[in-house]
Amino acid sequence: MTESTKFWGIVPAAGVGKRMQADRPKQYLELAGKTVIEQTLSRLLQADVFEAIAVAISSDDPYWPQLPIAKHEKILAAAGGTERADSVLSALKSISGKASDDDWVLVHDAARPCIAASDIHHLIACLIHDDVGGILALSSHDTLKNVQDGRIAGTLDRNHIWRALTPQMFRYGTLKTALEEAEGNPAITDEASALELKGLQPKIVEGRPDNIKITRPEDLSLAQFYLEQQ
Ligand code: CTP
Ligand code: MG
Repeated sequence: MTESTKFWGIVPAAGVGKRMQADRPKQYLELAGKTVIEQTLSRLLQADVFEAIAVAISSDDPYWPQLPIAKHEKILAAAGGTERADSVLSALKSISGKASDDDWVLVHDAARPCIAASDIHHLIACLIHDDVGGILALSSHDTLKNVQDGRIAGTLDRNHIWRALTPQMFRYGTLKTALEEAEGNPAITDEASALELKGLQPKIVEGRPDNIKITRPEDLSLAQFYLEQQ
């Protein structure tokens, strides 16, 4: 890693959390004494690698301005978008005057509050000399089935199936271009898929299994347990 290598954090946080069925977006629910998003951002700041972290926030979000962390000198707010990919692109554009095409960006879901600083450092160490970049991922322990109309149509080869996590780490210029080219494509559910569309092959870096995404109500107590264990 040279002295001039720069890293930027990008945090999509403009979702409504439909599957969580709470009275507010899940990133503002309480987890171990703070909101989920405060846990997430504190952990990214703790990693101590980012020039700044751009957070995509929905325009009608009344919760964000009330959080002390919104005023942190390294935290920048950007506009949210219709889909996750739009929010990520918006946050990337918001730092266009500061970031160079060769800088690295790490995109991390606001809804993954258990991210360990060690996983961020591990991802960076594995990818810093890579031409494409890559993502944290988990191999699958379960046998996986291809299902059509409620019946099993086949068994997938588990050795080739990984679950994509975040952070996902790519060069600023490459990622921004890839997301711009893929704009409106519903198949782009993470950053890697935008690069895959260009024929690139992001690298897989095995991450910690406690880096869960808060999606459904039961995930909150699991996240609380993991935070206590860490
Ligand atoms: N996200 C975003 N902008 C969107 C949609 C999602 O920034 N238009 C963010 C979410 O806030 C979350 C991350 O992307 O941090 C992962 O998305 P997901 O877990 O699907 O969150 P939600 O879309 O909020 O939840 P749901 O799909 O259940 O509505
Ligand atoms: Mg969603």
